[in-house]
Amino acid sequence: MKTITTIDELKKWVRKKKHANASIGLVPTMGALHDGHLSLLKKARKENDAVVMSLFVNPAQFGPDEDFDRYPRDFDRDHGLAEAAGADVLFAPTTEEMYPTQSRIAIHAGEQAQVMCGVSRPGHFDGVLKVVTKLFHLTEADRAYFGQKDAQQLAIIEAFVRDYDFPLTIVRGETVREEDGLAKSSRNVYLTETERMEAPHLQKALQLGTALYREGKDPIPEMTDYIQHHTSGKIDYIELHSFPDLHGPITNEAALAIAVQFGGARLIDNTIFKTKGPN
Ligand code: PAF
Repeated sequence: MKTITTIDELKKWVRKKKHANASIGLVPTMGALHDGHLSLLKKARKENDAVVMSLFVNPAQFGPDEDFDRYPRDFDRDHGLAEAAGADVLFAPTTEEMYPTQSRIAIHAGEQAQVMCGVSRPGHFDGVLKVVTKLFHLTEADRAYFGQKDAQQLAIIEAFVRDYDFPLTIVRGETVREEDGLAKSSRNVYLTETERMEAPHLQKALQLGTALYREGKDPIPEMTDYIQHHTSGKIDYIELHSFPDLHGPITNEAALAIAVQFGGARLIDNTIFKTKGPN
């Protein structure tokens, strides 16, 4: 695996691959790799001739009071994992390399960013769109891989790519979980021992909510009670939306999503299910 830190070098590598008619898969990450990232990487490995994993803690998607400074960073560990999972290139630029000048043009996510995490993290999805735009252009990827754990991010990126004709396919990856059901996340390391024991209740609440929805009930009040009784976390939101529109009446698919703030960790999780027929 080659580590590339500059845009020039990445462009040269991309040019060579394109010249050889190789398809390129991109797995964008902020590092602190876990099995969720690695399963995206393995999928990308199978579906493309060449695979780039990007590793960049993107300041543009963090609010001023968020965890940019303490976001877990361990380059050597991530490098080893990316290499073992079959990446050809680890693109790990500095902030100056990615953002050498102040952007004069902003990208704003639309209506889909006005619910769920978009409410408590204003500007977050604009920052995500900013970095993925650059990564899509720089890698000239044919496919880019995003986990369903960040369902809102996935929905917004899919809409962005469709609306603006980016010449690539967005591939969804299933949420990867710990044995007790907790969704794998780079932020799980912030949990105390007690919070870590409580955290699987997010998934349990989602399962409860899905069952209630199928019985024709509003899942949110009971899910709220459930989380309040089983965890010390503070609910940021529990929301049910049509997926991937995230607004308007629920049609084919729904996303039931939850965010809970524990002491040092804000955890999110969701389930996406068909509203009719067996799931
Ligand atoms: O999901 C993430 O880790 C980030 O939002 C992404 C897509 C790598 C953009 O920085």
